[in-house]
Amino acid sequence: MRTIDWADGQIHLIDQTRLPAELVLLHVTELDPLIDAIARLAVRGAPALGVAGAMGVAMLAFRHEGDEAAIRSGAARLRAARPTAVNLAWGVDRALARLVEGRDAVLAEALAVRDEDIAACAAMATRGADLTRALVARERVRAMTICNTGALAAVERGTALGVIGELLARGVLEEALPLETRPLLQGARLTAWELAQMGAPFRLLPDGASASVLARGLADICFIGADRIAANGDTANKIGSFTLSLGARNAGVPFVVVAPESTVDLATPDGGHIEIEERGADEVTSIRGVRTAPEGTRTLNPAFDVTPAALITAIVTDRRVIRLDRGERPSDPILG
Ligand code: MRU
Repeated sequence: MRTIDWADGQIHLIDQTRLPAELVLLHVTELDPLIDAIARLAVRGAPALGVAGAMGVAMLAFRHEGDEAAIRSGAARLRAARPTAVNLAWGVDRALARLVEGRDAVLAEALAVRDEDIAACAAMATRGADLTRALVARERVRAMTICNTGALAAVERGTALGVIGELLARGVLEEALPLETRPLLQGARLTAWELAQMGAPFRLLPDGASASVLARGLADICFIGADRIAANGDTANKIGSFTLSLGARNAGVPFVVVAPESTVDLATPDGGHIEIEERGADEVTSIRGVRTAPEGTRTLNPAFDVTPAALITAIVTDRRVIRLDRGERPSDPILG
């Protein structure tokens, strides 16, 4: 089953807020429910957001055919539903660029965004697993990861978790070590669910355990996804990624970002220019609806952080490996 798809004039997506308890599909035909699904993370993860953005514009093009102003204003609202993952704006813009050719062209573009994402994830899995062989001397690999970067974050397979899946398929994965990923537990709820579906050996860790587990020599490599990669290689990803990179550097463990080229934003020079989404207090003061902090507790809840390029070994995309540790940068020309 694909995480997000288009059929019968509707967007079909897995409601990720309901996992792992139940696998429920949402059928979206209107803009407001789509924006709501994005805002409450029913659909989430940068590549999936790119597809949701493009399909959302296709939905608008069918619903408001002939009313360009309505389509464009709806697309602007959709584009702003979450600020950090560049893929959302990128997907909206790609589909909107075909509007002059009519609604069928917009839909064709949205389906191309979907198909390209499937191909990109396959390419990243292969390239990332090959790079792992170059970076890790141990025959059987123990890979730490954060958040959910699997099939649920894309259309199929995913990015960082796609590489771990490829290591499993090649018979060289000793174990995956996903971090639970407070506050919304994408690691515990979604990555653990996906790893179990794959039949992968894994142990789930509390976020705070990452640096000490790495220092104890229990992991060989860290893989993360990305929401936006700046021209200099600074990478925005789920909150806790920066902390994980510090633990990896302390332990001398390679730290690898896996993301499609659509996540590389050359218009953003460095991480200081990336807008970080701030989310509501209830996510920190309660867990799944159960209050854990005193009434009236004030919070700071950035959904993402920026890992400086200096702490990243390499970025694996669908078209290249960027060895930041060797001075390469995303802004370098793509060869071949
Ligand atoms: O808030 P989320 O769950 O949308 O955050 C997702 C992440 O940070 C992922 O690591 C990133 O989007 C890459 S998904 C392949």
